[in-house]
Amino acid sequence: MRATRQKERYVIDTDRLWRRISELGEIGRQEGGGVTRLSFTEEERAAKDLVASYMKEAGLSIREDAAGNLLGRRGGRSPDSPAVLVGSHVDSVYNGGNFDGPLGVLSGIEVLHVMEEQGIETKHPIEVVAFTDEEGTRFSFGMIGSRALAGRLPPEDLIKYEDGDDVSVAEAMRAYGLDPERIGEAARPVGSVKAYVELHIEQGQVLENEDLPAGVVTGIAGPVWLRLSLEGETGHAGATPMNLRRDSLAAAAEIMGLIEAEASATGTTVGTVGQLNLKPGGINIIPGRVEFSLDLRDIDEGVRDRVERRITEGAGEICRRRDVEMDIETLQRLAPAPCSELVKSAVERACERVGIRAHALPSGAGHDGMQLTELCPMGMIFVCSKNGVSHSPDEWSTKEDCAAGSNVLYWTVLDLAGGG
Ligand code: GLV
Ligand code: MN
Ligand code: MN
Repeated sequence: MRATRQKERYVIDTDRLWRRISELGEIGRQEGGGVTRLSFTEEERAAKDLVASYMKEAGLSIREDAAGNLLGRRGGRSPDSPAVLVGSHVDSVYNGGNFDGPLGVLSGIEVLHVMEEQGIETKHPIEVVAFTDEEGTRFSFGMIGSRALAGRLPPEDLIKYEDGDDVSVAEAMRAYGLDPERIGEAARPVGSVKAYVELHIEQGQVLENEDLPAGVVTGIAGPVWLRLSLEGETGHAGATPMNLRRDSLAAAAEIMGLIEAEASATGTTVGTVGQLNLKPGGINIIPGRVEFSLDLRDIDEGVRDRVERRITEGAGEICRRRDVEMDIETLQRLAPAPCSELVKSAVERACERVGIRAHALPSGAGHDGMQLTELCPMGMIFVCSKNGVSHSPDEWSTKEDCAAGSNVLYWTVLDLAGGG
């Protein structure tokens, strides 16, 4: 276990990586200690500018594509061969942590920086990417950069999704200096990417329970994001008897109980209501209108879809009984994404090299790799998360575990890129 690690196979400059994680974590820092870096904002610009400066220090050639994805490239002996792609994202949720996203981007740069310093040549070129808007926080629609890179982002979607101020993705892109009409130019042709590999914090407690610093991801659970809108009747909280109410929030509360019960019953599905808006919002007014989100995930698509059906049918019955109108909008529906054998086996070999037992585990959280499954073989490496906490200022992984995971990434990338 931890004591048997092959430190001589540790090549990453851990202090440099750790310093960069801290520096990047200062951009979008909130009073409460967390970070907020939403897409196409000044904070995201500043984060990408800082990351570009690190790419420059690592000797990479830098470009930003039509989706705002920041890419740094190191050439290979066979310059026209498909590139190995490594990276993650630098946007965050509201008041998130320092590691979700930045770890994958900065460790990718670190891998290439060390190769540059040590004069390591690879057959394939290697690119590190900081994807635009993985989290979906601003527009309730995420993985914008990876969708675009995979050629899976139709221009209609840029108009369809809006933030809380009714600014569409297209408008936000324009304000950021990008042309939404050129989004198609970000697409990479099939065959141009040899493999995608991402180092990310686990955001769960499996590795901590196994006392392991890093692990091999088997696949990524598929999320469905819904928005439910309920329309009842606004009324006087004092003057309307209970039996004459059409209280949309009471209906929503009953639906939320159903969501919790149906997801819990499977043992694997997770269901979350993370957004709730009610109108008019007065202490003495029965809420006539409620909108809330539902994020439903499972590694098994069939189980997830069955839970979704039971929830939507049950919600329909609740609303009929309460004489409340219901409308359901699907914001996003992604299939679970299995990681490829090519990348998984390279990660296993890399774990062996650095002396870490190669423990396999699925990802409950979504990641950019999900968008790339038809473009190239895809896989991930997880780093142990303290107490499994993420999407929170308390998100934490130790310097030692980040170093272990980054060294696994180094050997994985070297293996895939044909070097050493
Ligand atoms: C992003 O972290 C997600 O899993 O929604
Ligand atoms: Mn992430
Ligand atoms: Mn996240």
